[in-house]
Parts: sequence; C-alpha cells; structure tokens
Amino acid sequence: MDRYAVIGHPVAHSKSPLIHAAFARQTGQSLSYEAIDVAPDALEASLAALAAQGFRGLNVTLPHKVEVMRLCETVSDRARRAGAVNTLLRTDNGWSGDNTDGEGCLRDLQRLGFGLRGRRVLVLGAGGAVRGILEPLLREQPAELVVSNRSPAKPEALAEEFRAIGPIRPCTHRALKGDRFDLIVHATSAGHDGSFPRLPGQLLAAGGQCYDLSYGHAFAPFRAWAESQGAAQVSDGLGMLVEQAAASFERWRGLRPDTAPVIAQLRETA
Ligand code: ATR
Repeated sequence: MDRYAVIGHPVAHSKSPLIHAAFARQTGQSLSYEAIDVAPDALEASLAALAAQGFRGLNVTLPHKVEVMRLCETVSDRARRAGAVNTLLRTDNGWSGDNTDGEGCLRDLQRLGFGLRGRRVLVLGAGGAVRGILEPLLREQPAELVVSNRSPAKPEALAEEFRAIGPIRPCTHRALKGDRFDLIVHATSAGHDGSFPRLPGQLLAAGGQCYDLSYGHAFAPFRAWAESQGAAQVSDGLGMLVEQAAASFERWRGLRPDTAPVIAQLRETA
C-alpha cells in the first residue's frame, strides 16, 4: 500500500488524514495517509527517514512550509512564487516541492460562484497566506486587486513582486476609505485570537461577497463584520482546505477527487 502523510508541529488536529481517506475511498485507491509530528529541528532527518520508509508523498503544514523548500530537489514555479511548499512528491532524485494552496483557494471561490474576472477585489493581510494565493487570483484578471495591511511595507513589497502577473495595488487599511469592492478576501491571522482589523466603513459594493481563508472559530470575527456590512454571501475557507488537498491528491495519484461530498462531510462533523 502506498504511504502518504502530513507533517507538522503540532499536527494532531489536522483534518488531512480524514480528507485523504475520503478521497481514497471515493476513487478506489489503495493508500494510507497519516499525521506525523515533526519538530522544527528534526525536519531534515525526518524527510530522509520518510523517504527511506518508502513514503510517496507528503503534505507540509506549519511551521515547516518555508523551511522545507531548501530540502527539495526541485520546487515548482508556483511554490517558488508562493515562497512556501505544502506538497511533496517523492521522485527518484529526491523530494519535489509544490504548493496547492492558491489553486485550492481559486477552485473554492469558483465552486461558490465568487468570480474574480473584471471585479474589484480586496485582499486583507499581507503575510504568508496572502503570498500563497496572489498568483492564481491575479491570473483570473480582476479589474483590480488591492492588497491591504495595517502598515504599508508588506503590501508594497508584494505588489512589486506580483505586478507583472496582474493589476495589483498596495494599500493600508486606513487608506481604503472611499474604495468599494465586489469581493473581499480575509487573509490575516487576526481571527485566531478573536480579533479583526480596523477598517473604514462601506468597503463592500451592493451584492458584494466575502471569503475567509480561515474556518472554525477563527472565521467568526470576519463573518460578523461581513454580515454587518450587508454582504450578499459570506464563506469560510473549509472548502479551500479540501480543494488544496484534492490538488495534492491529483499530483500524487493522477486522479481528481470530487470535493463537494467531502466538504459536506466535514461540515457535518464540525
Ligand atoms: P499567515 O501565514 O497567516 O499569513 P503571517 O505571515 O504572520 O501569517 O501574516 C499575518 C498577517 O495577518 C499579516 O498581514 C498581519 O498584519 P501585520 O503585517 O500588520 O502584522 C495580519 N494580522 C495579524 N494579526 C492582526 C490583527 N490583530 N489585526 C490586523 N492584522 C493582523
């Protein structure tokens, strides 16, 4: 049986084993998928040990997504632009690194009917999560994508880096005053401690949609804000979690699983 795993620290909470078990059942693939706790100082040795044990692929989660890049034999262009790797594929020459987070985000937005083409898009936050989604979002050709943060340096650096791909403009939350957006994507880490950035009012155009990369308790503050702003639709990022897993599964097995029943299953058990 082909072996796969997610490595992280901590990792016990990960939903990836459940998701990949559902994909394997659905597609009739014989494989195992486990969660393996790897401490930061054990990453290099663990990757060598897992290769020796015959693991065919790995998902990589916090805190290893950046560090693992230097241990890959090859890294895909999109992972290099994202500055992080979330998927490893074992090859004859070593580990090949990829990043499916951005693809997962875009596919979930498409599944929900949250289109980007020709629309004004606001991305809140300018950290690692934002870097991971900018390329696929910009390739959808929004009218403009504004990336906003508390202070200007990080959005300015991201805009500089990604402006060849599409129309990106850096901003601070405060300077958003007077702007209107059709789609607002929340990608700060503030929700994890129950907070939310201070924003000017009336940023959302009539019929506007709101999407959060987070799910569970971290989604609550953005959801409350979006509802207070009259959002037509609001979604958490549980679908993105399943979509990025499906993209990893496809890299490994050459088959694309149906994500909808797995998202529904996770919502039932949440
Ligand atoms: P991640 O990998 O989740 O993106 P990160 O790279 O540490 O984590 O980035 C966190 C992002 O959330 C940053 O944009 C950060 O804003 P600053 O650069 O101004 O720190 C944002 N963030 C975190 N806590 C926040 C809060 N309480 N209010 C507003 N923004 C916050």
